Amino acid sequence: MDTAKELTQRFLRDIEKASSLQDLEDIRVSALGKKGHLTLLMKDLGQKSPEERRVVGAELNRLKESLTQAIDTRKIELEDLVLNARLASEMLDISLPPRPQPKGKIHPLSHVMDQTIHIFGQMGFVVKEGPDIEEDFYNFTALNIPPEHPARQEQDTFYLPAFSEQQPLVLRTHTSPVQIRTMLKEKPPIRIIALGRTYRSDYDATHTPMFHQIEGLVIDTKTHMGHLKGCLEEFCRLFFEDPNLKLRFRPGYFPFTEPSAEVDIWWKGSTWLEILGCGMVHPNVLRNCDIDPDLYQGFAFGMGLERIAMLKYGIEDLRLFYESDLRWLNHYGFDAEVRE
Ligand code: DAH
Repeated sequence: MDTAKELTQRFLRDIEKASSLQDLEDIRVSALGKKGHLTLLMKDLGQKSPEERRVVGAELNRLKESLTQAIDTRKIELEDLVLNARLASEMLDISLPPRPQPKGKIHPLSHVMDQTIHIFGQMGFVVKEGPDIEEDFYNFTALNIPPEHPARQEQDTFYLPAFSEQQPLVLRTHTSPVQIRTMLKEKPPIRIIALGRTYRSDYDATHTPMFHQIEGLVIDTKTHMGHLKGCLEEFCRLFFEDPNLKLRFRPGYFPFTEPSAEVDIWWKGSTWLEILGCGMVHPNVLRNCDIDPDLYQGFAFGMGLERIAMLKYGIEDLRLFYESDLRWLNHYGFDAEVRE
């Protein structure tokens, strides 16, 4: 019997020292498995007298019980160790904030272009486009700006190398050439706007070498300056969201219009600000486009898009429009809106 007790003590110590579930299983097999030490002692009971069998059997059962309990306890401890090790190595920090999903903003200039197209669209204007690289003829000559005309110098033109036998190419200095392209292609009545990039060699807080303009052109049989005034008043009041906005038409000069005017708006009850140029299309321009000035007249206007965006949204420096600074874009940009 002492052997059984000693055996059990040894197994109990081994169980306590077991450092893995496999070790523990080996100990269990060696003590209580089919051919385990205690199992064999149990089997030996058959040889004993009934009296001995009762005493020794009870003792063996007790020892077996204590081993089983010790194994179960150690098993739970070892399983905990394994689990804790896994938890430590596979830690999932659910307190981490989710990855941000950046939401884009509409650039203020795109927003202003959308608004402009929308307002003129409601007045029946359609949008036309022209190339950024323009021929001298469309950018200047056809607009009544002949080669020696001082207006050519005023516009700080970027010239491009001409292909042989072709006339000089320029980066268009205004959107007015789209007028010419349209009139050469389409018969009146014409009612178009053209928006897009324009280029001049100039750089400061209110000038960048690339900027945007919107051009408007209306040609019909009985068009007069009253229509021009009404059209621009309507646009400015809708765009600046002020139904009482005051406009002032000052005499101006453009080679492609006669008479010409510059338009100011009365800004925040304190000052006149110039926002656009306009006029009645010059008869020479109509003739250059094979339109008979005795039958048709029309008006045209041109406006800087950055300028009206800066005024409407209080943006101070034009250069920031093109820096792609996300902080600026988040501040001045617009959420996408669904327009029905
Ligand atoms: N093209 C002119 C400019 O860039 C703006 C302009 C003035 C356009 C009068 C017009 C106009 O169509 O009639 O300064």
